[in-house]
Amino acid sequence: MTGDSSRPGGADVPVVESLRGLSPAERLRRVAAGRGLSAAECAALAAGGLGIDDADRLIENVVGLHALPLGVALHLVVNGRRRLVPMAIEEPSVVAGLSNAAKMLAAGGGVESTASAPLMISQVQLMDVPDPEAAARVVLDARVALLAACDAADPALVGAGGGARDVQVRRLDPAGPGDPLGPMLVVHLVVDVREAMGANAVNTMAERVAPELERLTGGRACLRILTNLADRRTVAARGRVPLGALARGGFAGEDVARGIEAASVFAERDPYRAATHNKGIFNGIDALLLATGQDWRAVEAGGHAFAARGGRYGPLSVWRVRAGMLEGELTMPMAVGLIGGAVRAHAGVRAALGILGAAGAADLAEVAAAVGLAQNLAALRALASEGIQAGHMRLHRRKG
Ligand code: MEV
Repeated sequence: MTGDSSRPGGADVPVVESLRGLSPAERLRRVAAGRGLSAAECAALAAGGLGIDDADRLIENVVGLHALPLGVALHLVVNGRRRLVPMAIEEPSVVAGLSNAAKMLAAGGGVESTASAPLMISQVQLMDVPDPEAAARVVLDARVALLAACDAADPALVGAGGGARDVQVRRLDPAGPGDPLGPMLVVHLVVDVREAMGANAVNTMAERVAPELERLTGGRACLRILTNLADRRTVAARGRVPLGALARGGFAGEDVARGIEAASVFAERDPYRAATHNKGIFNGIDALLLATGQDWRAVEAGGHAFAARGGRYGPLSVWRVRAGMLEGELTMPMAVGLIGGAVRAHAGVRAALGILGAAGAADLAEVAAAVGLAQNLAALRALASEGIQAGHMRLHRRKG
């Protein structure tokens, strides 16, 4: 997937126990040796990963480059494989926090993480439908032809084993007296996007079938775009930590575990706390997604919408103390892909994928969820013991 078949993609990576006390160049040498990075990939990372000409091809009106530190977190074990995690982030303590928490989770057997099938949803909004109930039936009756029309819009995706899988119809009624419009129909096209993030594929399909949906319903197609609430493309990560591994400073492991459980319940009861709890999760996920060239805004949007799916905003992860262990679980949408976009255009992104050893989009999603769970653990452990500021300061003293 990373374009280099000589690299250990599926295998456990050679152990890198510590990168502390080394220069950035020496750290890169160690990571590159372990992961089989080429000299060109190392040079790309050392130079910021992106040349001005490639940048100019990516977006409009380019005037320069904007760099971030790229760090590597250690000790993460996901589905029995040790992983190095490339992280692009400016916030101190995130990389060290992930490495520490990953070590604690490894003491409990590592993180188990499972991605669902890569099903994305595209929406077609239909206005002024004369008879919404009858129109919904007509659309569902035309399901097979609509799926075929979607597939015809992306033969390459079908060739790769993906394609349109389902058609759903939703009726959206006025939300209240101030709502200026009558009922509208929304058609969902459910598409298996395989290794892609999938936005281009499903947007194209929505635009392609919209005229047929207008004909079937007698309505007028308005928006034709994916939903970032990718709730058919989720990932679930689970991990356990022996209580003793949570001890910190003068705080006993069991007390820290009880504090983490209380922090979880706080977030489950209070959206003000849930927002911050989830921000800690995204500290890790966004840093990995940025390093690996993903649309992290899409994953953020999907994560926050998913966190509010019950009608109230809540935490994406939950922690409980059970049978002498602290157990954590995180479930969220994860729309990531390894083809197209920055993955093709950005040499630093390709090198970061090499560091991770990403075996495919599902693998990247599974690691991202594990990173979110571990990053959350790092923050809650600090908060439930000496506090986040004291932890930051200790790290800085050690660096200085
Ligand atoms: C800071 O970037 C993240 C935290 O606020 C997360 C949390 O409170 O759980 C420490």
